Order: sequence, then structure tokens, then C-alpha cells
Amino acid sequence: MTDETFQAPTPLGVSPVLPNLRVAVLGAGKMGGILLQAFLKNNLLLPDQIVATVQHPDRAQALSAQFGVEVGTDNLAAAQNADVILLGVKPTQVPAVVAEIAPALNSKKMVLSIAASVKTRSIEESAGCDLAVIRAMPNTPAMLAAAISALCPGRFVSADQMAIAQRIFQTVGRTVVVDEKHMDAVTGLSGSGPAFLYIIIEALAEAGVNVGLPRDVATLLAAQTAYGSARMVLETGYHPALLKDAVTTPAGCTVDGILELEEGGLRVTLIKAVKRATQRARELASG
Ligand SMILES: NC(=O)c1ccc[n+]([C@@H]2O[C@H](COP(=O)([O-])OP(=O)(O)OC[C@H]3O[C@@H](n4cnc5c(N)ncnc54)[C@H](OP(=O)(O)O)[C@@H]3O)[C@@H](O)[C@H]2O)c1
Repeated sequence: MTDETFQAPTPLGVSPVLPNLRVAVLGAGKMGGILLQAFLKNNLLLPDQIVATVQHPDRAQALSAQFGVEVGTDNLAAAQNADVILLGVKPTQVPAVVAEIAPALNSKKMVLSIAASVKTRSIEESAGCDLAVIRAMPNTPAMLAAAISALCPGRFVSADQMAIAQRIFQTVGRTVVVDEKHMDAVTGLSGSGPAFLYIIIEALAEAGVNVGLPRDVATLLAAQTAYGSARMVLETGYHPALLKDAVTTPAGCTVDGILELEEGGLRVTLIKAVKRATQRARELASG
């Protein structure tokens, strides 16, 4: 899901937002890659402030050419020179990667983990020092700087470190700070949520085709309606039920449609989907 047309900005004469920070992105896959690109696009960091790693050397080479940053496969070397270490590997790979970089960790460094399910405490304990660990859960609209990233601090995180972490994730959208006990629920709602909403958009578009609209028009209508409705909730601050009521004329067509949605159990199905995804998020770290 990396942007093939991506070009790093020309750094000449431009001072980055965080000039004194060196960042290592360990696991520059889909999400790590999106974040790395956003750091460069937003001039948060210059290319020479970032190193990244992946598992496969051929992919490291390709990414290095694409992003114009150093990409390798040696996590310890990457972590050694970094102030901030962003863990972008899969949850089950986190313990091995943290064990690998443990010699490079100390109480002045900060680890940002985007791995679902992995607790800050487990990273702190493997580090063997009072390490600042922040857990974050972004989502894929990060590609368009439209993510919501929930962040929670571990035991050794200062207010300044939390502010830096928020600034880092603001390059891909909005941020919200939550208690760690809510992170699996965040994963089930906004981490998985884009997939649920794509299905709803796809189904609305299919419905449009069913009632005679050309597919491209139906998809545009469905997606822009979802976008506009989300903006209404975010920007008016009104409860979604109130906004729904404003569309629903007595004895009109919308209320007939709502009756079908309720009969089909859309509301309960979505609630169950988020609950199931949350339960699964609790298990991911253990495989
Ligand atoms: N995708 C999402 O929507 C999303 C949202 C929020 C959080 N996350 C979290 O982000 C993390 C990554 O997910 P993803 O979807 O981005 O997965 P992904 O595309 O598979 O990325 C994982 C990356 O880790 C690399 N890797 C594997 N083992 C490694 C090692 N030992 N050292 C260094 N790099 C290693 C892989 O390298 P190769 O490319 O060489 O295989 C790959 O680039 C997960 O923990 C997930 O919970 C994902």
C-alpha cells in the first residue's frame, strides 16, 4: 500500500519540524511505510534523520531507492543511532525484535509501538531499563492524512515525550490519548473500522447498481455520502441520531429504508463485529 509515485521533498535549505530527532522505523511494511512517507512529505524529518528496516534484503533495497532513506535489515544497528524507535512489525514479531535491539535501549530513548495487542509493559520488561514506551494504533486512512491514531503512554513516558509522539502521528491525521485498557477496543473499532466501512460503501454502491445507477456513479454517491456524513458528525458535534432524524421525513422514503436496516440487524451486526475484532485484538500478541 505504499505510494509508488512518492518523492521525498528536496531538503536543501529547509529545516524540518523536528530537527534534532533521529528515528528508526523497524518494520517498514504497510503501516510503517505509510508513516515513513508521511514524515518526509510533511517535512517532519529529513531523509538523513530516518533509518528503516524490513525482513527481506531485496525489499530493503527497493524501499531505500523509493524513499531516499537508509533501509536495511539490521535492527540493532538502526536502533543504536536512533532517539525514537518505531516498531512496525507484526505483534508476534515484537518480542524477538525488542530482544534484538535491547542492547541499544536506554532510559533516554523512546519506543513507539504500533503493534496491535502488545502491551507497553511487556516491551518495558524486555528492555530491562526505564524505557519510555508509547503504544499507538493508527488506521490505513493514514495514507491520506485522514487517520485517527489512539496513543497511550507506558510507565516511564514524560509529557514532552507524549507531545513528540502526538506530533509524529499528527502527520497522518488526528490523534487521541486513551488509557491502555482501551487499546484493544480502539483496535477493534478504528483499526479494523475502515474495512467495515468499505463493506458498507461497497454494499451501498451495489444497491445503487441494483436500482439502475451506473457503477461508477453509484460508488461515487456512496463514498461521498459516507465522507460527508462523517464530516457532519465531526464538524457539527451533533449526535448521529439527531443528524439521522434531520434526513428522516415523516412517512418519507428514508424511514422505510431505516425499517429495512433495523429488520436486517445492521446496528447489532456492527456492534458484534467490533466486539469480535476487539476480542481477537486481545489475542494477537500470543499468535
Ligand atoms: N495495517 C493496518 O491497518 C494496521 C493499522 C494499525 C496498526 N497496524 C500494526 O502495524 C504492524 C504492521 O502491520 P502491517 O499491516 O504494516 O504489516 P506488514 O505490511 O506485513 O509489515 C510488516 C513489516 O515488518 C517487516 N519485518 C518482519 N520481520 C522483521 C524483522 N525481524 N525485522 C525488521 N522488519 C521485519 C516486514 O518486512 P518485509 O517487507 O521484508 O517482509 C514488513 O515490512 C502490526 O503490528 C499491526 O498490528 C497495522
